[in-house]
Amino acid sequence: MSSHPIGIFDSGVGGTSIWKEIHHLLPHERTIYLADSRNAPYGEKTVEEIRRLCYKNTESLLSMGCKLIVVACNTATTNAILDLRSTYEVPFIGIEPAIKPAALKSQTRTIGILATKGTLSSALFSKTSELYTHNIEVIEVEGNGLVELIESGRKDSPETEELLKRLLKPMLLKRIDYLVLGCSHYPYLIPVLKKILPPNVHIIDSGEAVARQTKAILEKKMLISRLSNYPIPEFFSNKNPAVMAELTGSETNNYKVSYLDF
Ligand code: SIN
Repeated sequence: MSSHPIGIFDSGVGGTSIWKEIHHLLPHERTIYLADSRNAPYGEKTVEEIRRLCYKNTESLLSMGCKLIVVACNTATTNAILDLRSTYEVPFIGIEPAIKPAALKSQTRTIGILATKGTLSSALFSKTSELYTHNIEVIEVEGNGLVELIESGRKDSPETEELLKRLLKPMLLKRIDYLVLGCSHYPYLIPVLKKILPPNVHIIDSGEAVARQTKAILEKKMLISRLSNYPIPEFFSNKNPAVMAELTGSETNNYKVSYLDF
């Protein structure tokens, strides 16, 4: 079982930001990534629809023999991970906005959270936020339109910069010093965000924490790979393999990005 792959899924290409951290920390693990780009964005769907898609993705990864599944999508995690855990025996790792470190480190006591409507309205998000943000002002902003721009390969476009300037305005007026990226797609916006944000605003995403948690669970369950080679990651998209190939640097690294109807 330890040589079986880690399965990772997202509503699209964004979770490759999480895959990069996992691949960096656990280079001897086989990884299979499913990008459900045909159904992106999840953030504006109903909870029932998000759950249905998560079950579909999980079934596909299990049919490929995955030993652990990373839900590399904040919207999917906050709306479906408890159901997945109660249905399947395989361990699930989720990704949630990194509210805790931002709240603990903030000097201005004001933090910003950029995430999808689906994440911000979920019960799991409200619970985490309530737990860590006493005496902290939290400015929540829905990143409507951002996932679509990234999915269509326009992450660095003037359109994206304009949209981000508009979305971040309420946070900057309130003088946030931490910006939490609550969507796995958003780390791909960091170069544009750095152009817009004042230098005292720190950006936090959850990628490294997810990779560390994945390693800890594999060790605990004695599922860590004993392979000594560096397996080639496998990527599958049901819509636009080309955008994913660009984001993962597949051409330079010889990774395969294939179309799969799942
Ligand atoms: C989405 O599909 O709307 C965004 C993915 C995420 O929440 O991480």
